[in-house]
Amino acid sequence: ENYDIGGHAHFMHKEICEQPEAVDRVLRGRIDDRFATVRLGGLNLDAREARAVRRVKILGCGSAYYAGQIGAQMIEELARIPADAEPASEFRHRNPVVDPDTLYVAVSQSGETYDTLAAVQELRRKGARVLGVVNVVGSAVARETDGGIYLHAGPEVCVVSTKCFTNTAVALALLALHLGRVRDLSVADGRRILAGLRRLPEQIGQVLEQEEGIAELAAGLARARSAMFVGRVRGYPVAREAAQKLKEVSYVHAEAYPASELKHGPLALIEPEVPTVAVVPDDELLDKNRATLEEIAARGGRILAVAHRVQETAEHTVVVPRNEPELDPVLLGVPLQLLAYHTALALGRDVDRPRNLAKSVTVE
Ligand code: G6P
Repeated sequence: ENYDIGGHAHFMHKEICEQPEAVDRVLRGRIDDRFATVRLGGLNLDAREARAVRRVKILGCGSAYYAGQIGAQMIEELARIPADAEPASEFRHRNPVVDPDTLYVAVSQSGETYDTLAAVQELRRKGARVLGVVNVVGSAVARETDGGIYLHAGPEVCVVSTKCFTNTAVALALLALHLGRVRDLSVADGRRILAGLRRLPEQIGQVLEQEEGIAELAAGLARARSAMFVGRVRGYPVAREAAQKLKEVSYVHAEAYPASELKHGPLALIEPEVPTVAVVPDDELLDKNRATLEEIAARGGRILAVAHRVQETAEHTVVVPRNEPELDPVLLGVPLQLLAYHTALALGRDVDRPRNLAKSVTVE
């Protein structure tokens, strides 16, 4: 198929820039202001069934897995249901305990990833309820699940995922809100999250306006031998996805760590040639994150912070608008997509078709 690149140098750039509209589409028709919740008709899960869920397990590969990790945190925060994400490839090979009270969620942009589909099929064989969070309508994962949420992001052509990553996180926020509102999430909190969701498209636009500055920072990253990405709790999956993106498109080695684990090993790697990208939201962990930045700086590490306000210890801060704390990961990820893109450009990489990678891995 021939897709229109719309005046952009690469599909990756086009897809990053399309995110305000893509997020608008995943929200469209789903917000229910009257009951401070969302309507997700495709879930095929009534209130009684939704209440009976005791655990949520999210499965996906690559960026879908990292988006799933963001979603699992949102589900725990908003619905207070134990939730986690696991690579579908690992899950299917370890003879998992399949539990009838667990809601399984398969996340896949293409809906054709072999490992994710195999996990879905194994779960269905064992009688589990499986939902799909999928972009491609009518794809295998969409067909073989009990229900789900479509991303409506439009076609994603670049091998690496950007707008579908963001839309997956938003779709899982919708699921979290829905599960929360049939349980203990208050009307007031439901309204707060809905207002936050509505602000996302405009705020993503504000991040995209900072592209020029981010491109300058990328020039520095392009010279790095390796880069460390750190974040705590909400910031950690954001750091993981950002490291993945940088590796995929620029081939600069990157490693993501929970900021709290740095002192248990990777601090040994910190030196001026190994910069750290730190995800630092203004949440209850801000002081702890600041202490980590001090430790890195004290060892000669250069820091680029992605934060809600300027971090004095960092050489540079990309300031991202605040949303609601539960939704902040969605916005914190956006400048890091631009950072990976511009690092790849600075190194002359083939950003839309990185070596050794495929858009969807449909074989074992
Ligand atoms: C491949 C792509 C990744 C993608 C992953 C999952 O590895 O290179 O960018 O995140 O597959 O793809 P899916 O279509 O299942 O989301």
